[in-house]
Amino acid sequence: MTSAPELPTTYAPTAEFAAAANAGPELAERARADRLAFWAEQAERLHWDRKWTDVLDWSNAPVARWFTDGRLNVAYNCVDRHVREGRGDKVAIHFVGEPGDTRDLTYADLLAEISRAAHHFQSLGLVPGDRVAVYMPMIPEAIITMLACARLGLTHSVVFAGFSPAALRSRVDDAEARLVVTTDGQFRRGTPAGLKPAVDEALSAPGHTVENVLVVRRTGQDTPMTAGRDHWWHDTVERQPAEHTPESFDSEHPLFILYTSGTTGKPKGILHTSGGYLTQAAYTHHHVFDHKAGQDVYWCTADIGWVTGHTYIVYGPLANGATQVVYEGTPNSPDEHRHFDIIDRYGVSIYYTAPTLIRTFMKWGRQIPDAHDLSSLRVLGSVGEPINPEAWRWYREVIGHGDTPIVDTWWQTETGAIMISPLPGVTAAKPGAAQTPLPGISAQVVDEEGNPVVLGETEANGYLVLDQPWPSMLRGIWGDMERYQTTYWDRYAKQGWYFAGDGARLDPDGDLWVLGRVDDVMNVSGHRISTAEVESALVGHTGVAEAAVVGASDDTTGQGIVAFVILTATTENTGDTLVNELKAEVSREISPIARPREIHVVPELPKTRSGKIMRRLLRDVAEGRELGDTSTLVDPAVFTAIAEAKGD
Ligand code: WTA
Repeated sequence: MTSAPELPTTYAPTAEFAAAANAGPELAERARADRLAFWAEQAERLHWDRKWTDVLDWSNAPVARWFTDGRLNVAYNCVDRHVREGRGDKVAIHFVGEPGDTRDLTYADLLAEISRAAHHFQSLGLVPGDRVAVYMPMIPEAIITMLACARLGLTHSVVFAGFSPAALRSRVDDAEARLVVTTDGQFRRGTPAGLKPAVDEALSAPGHTVENVLVVRRTGQDTPMTAGRDHWWHDTVERQPAEHTPESFDSEHPLFILYTSGTTGKPKGILHTSGGYLTQAAYTHHHVFDHKAGQDVYWCTADIGWVTGHTYIVYGPLANGATQVVYEGTPNSPDEHRHFDIIDRYGVSIYYTAPTLIRTFMKWGRQIPDAHDLSSLRVLGSVGEPINPEAWRWYREVIGHGDTPIVDTWWQTETGAIMISPLPGVTAAKPGAAQTPLPGISAQVVDEEGNPVVLGETEANGYLVLDQPWPSMLRGIWGDMERYQTTYWDRYAKQGWYFAGDGARLDPDGDLWVLGRVDDVMNVSGHRISTAEVESALVGHTGVAEAAVVGASDDTTGQGIVAFVILTATTENTGDTLVNELKAEVSREISPIARPREIHVVPELPKTRSGKIMRRLLRDVAEGRELGDTSTLVDPAVFTAIAEAKGD
């Protein structure tokens, strides 16, 4: 690798691509001329049962109301509309199961299934505003469940099916869910594993609000059912009528809650509502991916357990009448050819994935993608973490046959939809940079006091803020509006800006580079995990007195979790057994995605005089760097001991 600084190379769209692209330069001009009129224009791509009176009401900031008094049904917009307009026979979902089973669902099929599920949910006595927890692998019924909720004005809370029973329970409790929808099991690299038992475990202690558990048969596992509480999907939903009349809901009706890690151990329930969210989901999917219904086959490889799955598998693509691939499993099941085989077989033209997977593909070697016809691809997307220029170039060269635009999309669970990204027919793309706020979106890079960083200065680093409300912005943290205020709005209270929690840089061309989290949130394979959550799982073990966790850079996963633990005086369990036990404990308590890469047993932790653990220094240690400033430490010698323990 060369380390000499090179002038950034840009990759302009071809004239041919630009000429046919959904978004041209005039899009940004229109948005600049009149931002709210621009968003109103975007909202027009939806079907409204009653038109809004105001585009934006920001009088109750920081809780926005978009398209006030407008009424719509989100599921109608995603499904019924396409059927009514004569596109019922069009494939909505090409489902590929991990064992290799496939199933195509047209928009008409999807409508029938959603209608049946909606009838069943109503028969359970659920009413608009009730919460439904969804704990399912990537199968069509997960999407059907989400849309049946949307159809009825039920607020779904999808919990990633890799999360532990404890994590499920805390989310179910926080949202006071009345129904849990799950499956008997899920496939993990070819092997079926139970999932329903995790629900049983989560609900084993009394005091929860769940009245019903609906179970889809997926793996055929033996599944004990609790009488009166548990029902099979095939015994209930499938017996319901296939027609269902949708009601309309207020533009601000809660659509979903999605939990994400924050700086404290308790996950935040990010709340999204209907009209503004769907508007921006549809707008961004159309323009950022240059999606053309009727031509493209779209594939977003995310899981519905994350926001990317919500906005770019369920709401955005379906609102735009897309034909998409939904794949249940891992990329190396049965072998490393899986994704490329799917692209080839279905003629995927738009492919949206995470840098961590691209780096994994790089490790596997180009002979794998090279064995397939990937010529159908015409737009590639990246999301979840900064993409290193090397991976960017490999992605374009090897997967995108050297001529495919790449959109590096920056956004968050909180923003609901893409905020900063190149536009594939407009932007001369720069490897590694998300570059430009989308038309209609306004962002700045500012210092601690809120002064814009100065363009052209070599160190134009600062914090990323969003200085104007946007349609798909979160409307709060479920049950904790104070935390909403303090987490996002207090930092720049004077200016009224949203603090994203990311560091960013402006280069001399004015392009924005997102550098990563500036808070105690780690980004592992594009998943947000808080250091506090992992620390609390570690100290939950009787052998551990204290723990400090940092995210250290990792070639494949972006960051890897490195933990430093001090043992209790009484523990006799030390060494590898303990370390393995602790790793397993974290997997069990949170999820395998939170399993530490390394755990070091140390005699002490570096602390400031006020008792705060110096994570910055631990990160230096974990990444094998020279130590930064240690002058504020109580005892700098602690590092000699840590280095010894780490075996350096
Ligand atoms: C990071 C995922 C750089 C960022 C949609 C953000 C990125 C967090 C990018 C949100 C990108 C996401 N470039 N960093 N293109 N996309 N991030 O809530 O730190 O799971 O704050 O949403 O991921 O993660 P979340």
